[in-house]
Amino acid sequence: MCGVVGYTGKNQAVKYLLDGLSTLEYRGYDSAGVEVLSPSGNLHGVKCVGRVATLVERCKTANLVGTAGIGHTRWATHGAPTDRNAHPHTDCSGRIAIVHNGIIENFQELRRDLAAAGHELRSDTDSEVIAHLVEDAWNGPAKGDLAAAVRNACDRLEGSWAIAAICADAPGQIVCTRKGSPLVVASTPDGAYAASDVMPLAKVTSHVIQLDDGDIATLRQDGSVAITDRDGIAVEHPSTMDIDWDASAATLGGYSDFMAKEISEQPAAIERLLQGRLGKHGVELDELSMSDEELAAIDRVYVIACGTSYHVGLITKAIIQKWAKIPVFCEYASEFNYSDVLVTEHTLCVIITQSGETADTLTAARRMKGMGCRVFAITNVLGSSAARESDGTMYIQAGPEVCVCSTKAYTAQMVAAVLLALRLALVNGQMDQAEVERHFHDLEQLPGLISEVLKRRWQDKQAARLFRNAHSSLFLGRGVNSTTAYEGALKLKEVSYLHAEAYPAGEMKHGPIALLEPGFPVVAVVPADHVHDKTVSNIQECIARGAVVVAVATDGDEAVAKLCQDVLWVPPVPDEDLFPIVGVVHLQLLARYVARARGCDVDKPRNLAKSVTVE
Ligand code: F6R
Repeated sequence: MCGVVGYTGKNQAVKYLLDGLSTLEYRGYDSAGVEVLSPSGNLHGVKCVGRVATLVERCKTANLVGTAGIGHTRWATHGAPTDRNAHPHTDCSGRIAIVHNGIIENFQELRRDLAAAGHELRSDTDSEVIAHLVEDAWNGPAKGDLAAAVRNACDRLEGSWAIAAICADAPGQIVCTRKGSPLVVASTPDGAYAASDVMPLAKVTSHVIQLDDGDIATLRQDGSVAITDRDGIAVEHPSTMDIDWDASAATLGGYSDFMAKEISEQPAAIERLLQGRLGKHGVELDELSMSDEELAAIDRVYVIACGTSYHVGLITKAIIQKWAKIPVFCEYASEFNYSDVLVTEHTLCVIITQSGETADTLTAARRMKGMGCRVFAITNVLGSSAARESDGTMYIQAGPEVCVCSTKAYTAQMVAAVLLALRLALVNGQMDQAEVERHFHDLEQLPGLISEVLKRRWQDKQAARLFRNAHSSLFLGRGVNSTTAYEGALKLKEVSYLHAEAYPAGEMKHGPIALLEPGFPVVAVVPADHVHDKTVSNIQECIARGAVVVAVATDGDEAVAKLCQDVLWVPPVPDEDLFPIVGVVHLQLLARYVARARGCDVDKPRNLAKSVTVE
């Protein structure tokens, strides 16, 4: 949430700042701004409500000249999205500017103190206090040292932050720091760069430095980066990371939107994830960093995640329980953090987070670690906080997911969870090598099956007409496919703004059935599995009340075809527990077509941001 960029070097800063903000826009897009230090020695900025594209237009006439600057794209938490609340924020003199991602929890108290001391606060944000605290320190104890002033200001903050600061009286310097919110920096012959994540940096370097909490990085015009820790001691060997994907992975590459592109990348992502995983000793999962004895001793698993990743958690729970016979608790991180936990000496905690930066999930992981549990992360983002803080990390290698609505990470995370279940089942004796291999070969069929569903996208386009003018919809499924229904409803809501309720099909008659009326759209996930006939009965109950039913069903299911208005056909999946990984692709496509028919921007749904770094 909120994207931060900074640059100082040989080139004009505004180009990198605007490019970087466009790349980071998935982190928030209700307002944006840049501030550049001009050759005359003054700060000049432009900020405005709306998308980065609006900022780019404004900058064309603003003539922002200068080789050092900072920028921000905002997802509002404190203060409405207005020009005034957009970042960067300046101090009273207008000679210090900051951008901030995170939340300053004690901002009210700080605002009161700053106002009482004569500071003029001009926005409703929590972030603005930082500029004034840096000002106080610059004029006071830091004595004109920007890094010291930022450190001093941070000593007074509570909450989370990634900050970049610039000062007209410290020419050519950008000072950055973080606590709890991500920030990476890079040193190159053309200059030094800062960004909330590696995506904007991938265009300029393949080597980035990850700041640790409390680190202060001073970026200079010659491209150098000097880092000190929270006590001001030089950090000689900061942690670094090589970016191993091409920057073009984050471009549209001929697709009309990132959602379409990322949906179509699913077969390749799963193929990549499975490569080299089957060995002599079952599924290779060295990332677990646990011996077979330790794994065999696991007697309880907590799976913790948010949103779409939580739905992966539900599938993880079902499959680990079924195959490895270990009890699994699947929790929303935001709920888990404030509830009782029942850990044993041999509890494994699995966190699932595409971005690796979701604040609630990280808090949960820290809580579990604090209780002595081993934490295993399933994530997509290299070097993310989840990866850095966990005992073991499995990267799903899906490539950058730019669309705010998660698609390819969802299916890849499910495959990762299945691999984990196979590993656990083998080491604790619930499966033998032959069984593991059989399941693995089933997994290998998934890319081909998903490709087949992608070829049938016309079915989703056609079914979208039933939702275009609807006011609400209901998604139903049983067993693992109740989760497919939850995920389908979430996709539809978030990209098309059409209300969608999801229920296990058997629960429908305990309440949601009251929603049904003639023409009401229902999506029923009804593959050829052991609960097929039960779900068909639920479909009949819907039809009896005039609902129009769109089914996600297995090829050749005449009974379903006769009953339903439309069928989204899925080729036979070798194992019914893997159906969610294939069937959901139709629901992703359906959500996209409905959203487009309703005139919505599928890549940047309103009010959402991809990386939810606040609790
Ligand atoms: C929905 C979506 C969100 C995320 C959730 C957790 O399409 O993407 O529900 O799944 O915000 O994000 P991660 O997986 O990054 O922890």
